[in-house]
Amino acid sequence: MADLVITIDGPAGSGKSTVARLLAKKLDASFLDTGAMYRTVTLAAMQSGVNMSDQEKLLEVMEKKNLNFSSREGIMLAHIDGADVSEQIREPEVTANAHYVASAAKLREKLVEMQRDFAAGEEKIVTEGRDQGTVAFGDADIKFYLTAQAGERAKRRLTELRAKGRSDRLEDVQQAIEERDKSDKNRAVGPLRPADDAIVIDTTELSIEEVVETVLGCVKEKCPG
Ligand code: DC
Repeated sequence: MADLVITIDGPAGSGKSTVARLLAKKLDASFLDTGAMYRTVTLAAMQSGVNMSDQEKLLEVMEKKNLNFSSREGIMLAHIDGADVSEQIREPEVTANAHYVASAAKLREKLVEMQRDFAAGEEKIVTEGRDQGTVAFGDADIKFYLTAQAGERAKRRLTELRAKGRSDRLEDVQQAIEERDKSDKNRAVGPLRPADDAIVIDTTELSIEEVVETVLGCVKEKCPG
């Protein structure tokens, strides 16, 4: 296990990916975007044309395909059978189908195992997702849970989509975010919730820089070394 494990969980659009990436950079730690893993399995299943609600078929895809994850300069790279799919896993169709993989207990077990293996090879790690502090790294050194009002999270997501040249409507983006929240919070395995010992930060009124400063302050206080 790494000497320092920091978990950041939270719903879509809470800023956790950006904050985790910047925090990892400041601490010279590795960064693990576990959402990228769920997305990659989802894409592999879509490419294979299997029934997404059939857990056994999803498991088969995971076993047959060579899925590889690495982190380079704070960016998670994902490969399926040697092909770089790091961009493709961000497509809205993959986002919309990811809940199938996220709610399949056996797949979550395997992905958590992969996350722990990844951490074992690192000295310091900042890992983000939905269940990092509650399931994957229950004994993490510091746990954060970032949240923000759904309307604000939708605005942030819309800005990202516009930057990619898309012209989605705010109402649709907000509705999709609220649906994902519901599915993330209500699944039987690894549901989205703050760990009992997590530091909860509402980022609605905060800039990314302010969140990073707050998080960094907590880390320094708790782990001065
Ligand atoms: O954070 P994200 O939007 O990239 O996550 C993609 C999907 O994976 C989303 O449906 C939530 C799910 N997920 C999860 O269930 N557990 C995690 N640790 C990370 C992501």
